[in-house]
Amino acid sequence: MKVTVFSTHKFEREFLNLAIQDHQLHLLETKLTLDTASLAAGSEAVSIFVNDDASGPVLQKLKEVGVKFLALRSAGYNHVDLQEANHLGIKVARVPEYSPAAIAEHTVAIMLGLNRKLIKAHNRVRDLNFSLDGLVGFDMEGKTVGVIGTGKIGSKVIRILHGFGCRILAFDPYENKDLKNQYQVQYVDLDTLCKESDIISLHLPLTKESKYLINEGSILQMKQGVMVINTSRGGLVNTVDVIQGLKTGKIGSFGIDVYEEEAELFFEDHSEDILQDDVIARLMTFQNVLITSHQAFLTKEALTQIAATTSYNLNCWENLENNPNELVFEEVKKP
Ligand code: NAI
Repeated sequence: MKVTVFSTHKFEREFLNLAIQDHQLHLLETKLTLDTASLAAGSEAVSIFVNDDASGPVLQKLKEVGVKFLALRSAGYNHVDLQEANHLGIKVARVPEYSPAAIAEHTVAIMLGLNRKLIKAHNRVRDLNFSLDGLVGFDMEGKTVGVIGTGKIGSKVIRILHGFGCRILAFDPYENKDLKNQYQVQYVDLDTLCKESDIISLHLPLTKESKYLINEGSILQMKQGVMVINTSRGGLVNTVDVIQGLKTGKIGSFGIDVYEEEAELFFEDHSEDILQDDVIARLMTFQNVLITSHQAFLTKEALTQIAATTSYNLNCWENLENNPNELVFEEVKKP
């Protein structure tokens, strides 16, 4: 079967070519948009990444050119209009789990990088400035970390932080008994988590309900100098409100791997361009902000798994086999 693969990055090509040998891959660097959807003509299946546009009109265009199956190379599916896909008869499958450890480890790397001011320290040393002033951090041991979303990634973050000797608070509509028993995790409401945590880390999906979960109101509840980390989805955080929090010192440090408007920026080299996004421009002026461009998943193990699961999803669809990775619209409506 011919498969058009949008947003193919250099870092994943070898993994895709190795894992997907049963299909004819048409690897495109371009993103899927309304303008590029017609490039999929002749392919029954299309594969997309996190910043591709799979909104209703784009799906309609894909349907017109003969696409029947959408293979997401991601766990998150907030960029796909599942209702419209269902309506058009386009099946959608995702990679529900590739390496929760990869994202969890990157999350903790951001925490440590911010806390111990590693970027500043590194730059100083390269400049032959060996002074330590302004580099004071804090012990992670004994600190309270609030984890919002205790699914696959949140659980791994908790495991690592428990090893550091942190006290863990969690907020999730579904309590995980194993986390309570093994790591003494205390499930609390969001207000309590905000009030008591020294570090807050987000590991929940972006939905209509969770959009701007971190906003002026929740920031007001937080401890003075709190560290906030988001490696989930940019829209979980109102960045303008965070900037206010950083300006007053309420937020002591902010680390992100995702940004609400990242689709226009992340994964590409814009070093020759004039930055048009004033919000991220302001964010980048703070010394206590650490930004990576959606790379938490970027390990060999995760890329191998993404390619393998995408191959499995394509094979299941072609062979009319049941696939647990298929997204069913009704499921999404469940709380
Ligand atoms: P998961 O589905 O295993 O866990 C998500 C958890 O969030 C569930 O326990 C769920 O009950 C909880 N949840 C849902 N709505 C909530 C709410 N309103 N408040 C509190 N908790 C809520 O998902 P997983 O694999 O742990 O991934 C979490 C998120 O990480 C994904 O949705 C995705 O956005 C992000 N992600 C980021 C990557 C990166 O490279 N930066 C890579 C992969 C995922």
